Amino acid sequence: MNAVALRRAHPADCERVWAFNFAPDVRAVSGTAEPVSPAQHAAWFAQRLSEVDAPIWIIESEGEAVGVVRIDRIRGPSRFGRISIALDRAARGRGIGQAAIAEATRTWAGPTLAEIHPDNLASRAAFEACGFALSSGPTTGALLSYAWSP
Ligand SMILES: CC(C)(COP(=O)(O)OP(=O)(O)OC[C@H]1O[C@@H](n2cnc3c(N)ncnc32)[C@H](O)[C@@H]1OP(=O)(O)O)[C@@H](O)C(=O)NCCC(=O)NCCS
Repeated sequence: MNAVALRRAHPADCERVWAFNFAPDVRAVSGTAEPVSPAQHAAWFAQRLSEVDAPIWIIESEGEAVGVVRIDRIRGPSRFGRISIALDRAARGRGIGQAAIAEATRTWAGPTLAEIHPDNLASRAAFEACGFALSSGPTTGALLSYAWSP
């Protein structure tokens, strides 16, 4: 397995995170298809970085930035976090996603949801390998809900 490390994102990562999250094949498996302009992304990213208790990490492999993983706090009584991950296409299929999910949830250390497109077999396998199990939790559209607890 590659040496995988997570580092907290900072403002200079804005464009990089855009590139990871808005690659067409990543958007195709996300819950929302609405277009997001670079300016809207920049505003979201700045606001999101200010939420210090809801981390965004850059995934590094062999010292190179290869993806992004974040945990959003789900508002309301559930006290769950929702994890999202996107790797650069060239970094996929080598265990990096699984390592990043494991490290993110270990650090977060609280109950966590993942919403996954049913056809996204790589994502389902990566989350299952990290201990996530199919649940009947809330979902967006046709996505499956997976849950993990420490
Ligand atoms: C989903 C994603 C994070 C998985 O990370 P990855 O590094 O590619 O996956 P890994 O190499 O860690 O593999 C994890 C598991 O998935 C399996 N897997 C990998 N690619 C696969 C594929 N194309 N089809 C089926 N299974 C696959 C692996 O065999 C492994 O399972 P195992 O532990 O039982 O052997 C990554 O592919 C990605 O960023 N995809 C695009 C964005 C995305 O789908 N994000 C998730 C939205 S919910």
